[in-house]
Formats: sequence, C-alpha cells, structure tokens
Amino acid sequence: MTKFLFITDLDNTLVGDDAALKTLNYHLEQHRQAYGTLIVYATGRSPELYQELKTEKPFLLTPDALLLSVGTEIYHHGQDDLDPDWVAELSHGWDRDQVAAIAAHFADLVPQSPQEQTPFKASYHLSQEVAPMVLPQLEASLQKQGLDIQLIYSSGKDLDILPSRGNKGAAIAFLQQTWRLPGDRLVVCGDSGNDISMFAAATGKGIIVGNAQPELREWHHANPSPHRYVSKAHCAGGILEGLRHFGFLEA
Ligand code: GLC
Ligand code: MG
Repeated sequence: MTKFLFITDLDNTLVGDDAALKTLNYHLEQHRQAYGTLIVYATGRSPELYQELKTEKPFLLTPDALLLSVGTEIYHHGQDDLDPDWVAELSHGWDRDQVAAIAAHFADLVPQSPQEQTPFKASYHLSQEVAPMVLPQLEASLQKQGLDIQLIYSSGKDLDILPSRGNKGAAIAFLQQTWRLPGDRLVVCGDSGNDISMFAAATGKGIIVGNAQPELREWHHANPSPHRYVSKAHCAGGILEGLRHFGFLEA
C-alpha cells in the first residue's frame, strides 16, 4: 500500500450513511497515518454551510485541503484564508454583478439563499422541467455580453454560474500542481452534476457512488472510461467499494 490523494464530494457522496462513513473514516485515517495519504473535500457548500455540516457530523475527518463553493474557493489545511493565487486566477473576466443582472431577467431562476452567493459563484434554483429550455438561453445571454462563464446544473434543481476557469476539476488540477503530486495516485468520488468536472479532469481513478444522480450517470455513459467505477453501494459504502476495487485499500 502507498500514499494516494483522496478527493471526495460531501453531500450524498461521503455524507449520507453515518455507519458507512465511520467505517470509511477508520480506513482512511489509518492510511493517512501509515502512508501520508491526503484527504480533500470538494463541495458545492459555502463556508457557512460547511461549518453547519461539521457541527452536524462532528466525526468528519479534518481534510488536508478544502474546496468550497464548487471549487471556486481553496483553503489549505490549518488556514482560514483563501488561496490567493486561485482568487487571482478566477478574477480574470469575471463580473459577478453583471452575471446577476442578466440572470435576473429569467423568471424561472430563483436565487438561492444569500449565504450561497459567494464571490465566484452565483446560485439559483431551476426546475428540471424548464431547465433544457432555459439553460441554453441563459448561456447565450451571458456570452453575448462577453462574460467568461460556465453553467453547472446539479440534482435536477441547482444551477451555479461560475467563472469558466473555476470548478471542482480545475481546482484539483491547481492543487496537484501546487503539491507536485503524480496524477496516477489520485481518486475522485462524486454523485451529481457539479462533480462531472472532477471526473472529466481526473488523471487518476473515479468512483461514482451507487446513488448517483441521472445527469452524472448520463455523462458517464456518453464518456465511458475504464478508470471510472460505478459502485453498487450508496454514499460512503460506495466509496469503500470503489477504493477496494481499484486497490487503494486492501479488500
Ligand atoms: C450545494 C450548494 C449550492 C449549489 C449546489 C450544487 O448544495 O450549497 O449552492 O448550487 O451545491 O453545486
Ligand atoms: Mg453531492
């Protein structure tokens, strides 16, 4: 067994089955102590919602780095401040006020709570029924104004508008460079649309948990890879199944 970089989404991937999470934590913590394995959480949650989750689930392991707000915020272990180089990278061509002003013309977009509106992420609720019609129109309107953005739709309800250079996958590539880690000893785990960029960018392995959302399953079927595994088990149980499948942990 050797060190690896373990990257996971939180809601409905790492978190969702407490008993399985405690078992997974035990194995990960042992691996971290024995081999120096690194743990990274990559979530759509804002800093406030991440703190809430930590209070609800005090047994969550402390990660070596934290990617919040769909990868637009990078926090290194033990630091309260954002990685300034990542902030500089995302600032190019991003105008949050203009994004929000254009989005306000779309009646189907309902802004999420104020705490989920972060410097590099504008978030809305959008129903699944109208999304296929609204998303291309919104993207065209934003691009017409020269805005360098990407739209990420998750779980048939959440829409995030982000700078085109910022998402979970791009943040991981940035971390890999910063840490100078080899690409093959890496595994990413996820369940929904905002995890697709991790699977698309990943140079190592990918684990899709058994309870994954249709948008991620559809993307996986359209872009199959032998380096990706779809678990039978849900949430942390699915992660454990995948880590054993790829030999990161002993079976
Ligand atoms: C999390 C965030 C929300 C975001 C969603 C999808 O639930 O709190 O703002 O839209 O993830 O990325
Ligand atoms: Mg999730």
